[in-house]
Amino acid sequence: MTIAPQSSPSPRDRLIVALDLPSVAEAERMVDQLGDAVTFYKVGLELAFAGGLQFATALARSGRQVFLDLKLHDIPTTVERATRQVADLGATFLTVHAYPQTLAAAVRGRAGHAGTSGLQILGVTVMTSYGDADLLEAGYADGVAATVERRARQAEAAGADGLIISAEEAARIRGLVGPRLQLVTPGIRPAGTASQDQKRVMTPGDAIRAGADYLVVGRPVTAAADPAAAARAIVAEIQSAS
Ligand code: C5P
Repeated sequence: MTIAPQSSPSPRDRLIVALDLPSVAEAERMVDQLGDAVTFYKVGLELAFAGGLQFATALARSGRQVFLDLKLHDIPTTVERATRQVADLGATFLTVHAYPQTLAAAVRGRAGHAGTSGLQILGVTVMTSYGDADLLEAGYADGVAATVERRARQAEAAGADGLIISAEEAARIRGLVGPRLQLVTPGIRPAGTASQDQKRVMTPGDAIRAGADYLVVGRPVTAAADPAAAARAIVAEIQSAS
């Protein structure tokens, strides 16, 4: 399967399935099951620490797009060098915590990569597990909304390619940052599916209408009785909302 990254992705390419699975064997089974229903996969820390980086590289070589959700945050030199290494793996998206210094280092690392890397850097503004009280406890006096807005603007200034935000924030953040930034939204639940541990959820259609460019969906696809059918239904909803 060959799927070239596009500037204006098709509805199918706007669905990113989160492979939140404990082993490469299970991830491979899921990718096989999904077949051509899904072209874009997210590999997070759990799978990355279980051989998932090699698996992600193979997935990218097979023509799929890969989102490496590694949420980098370290001193600038380390982030720059780590990003340069990640740029070799063939991934499309890499997450970095949206501190100005950290994002700027990742952008330099990607630019310093020797080959033609299509890697795009996404800033994680404020983790959705954080509320105002958690930020205060961690030493940040501003609340979540103000901090997300500040970091979104800073991410744009630092040269990031996009942001991870909740779909509920998409319309507001799109109004703050230019069209160049890709808005990638987790917390997606098709109508009638369980929200599980996600507190603020939106349907695929509503998220697209709110301005999301890409939707990250995990369990509604991977835990479905028929994952490929669940993915196709989400793609159809993206298509009719586009
Ligand atoms: O299974 P579910 O659709 O809830 O999975 C959502 C995915 O998006 C998970 O991999 C989760 O870690 C990720 N994510 C999230 N909320 C964020 C950032 C990432 O749910 N703010």
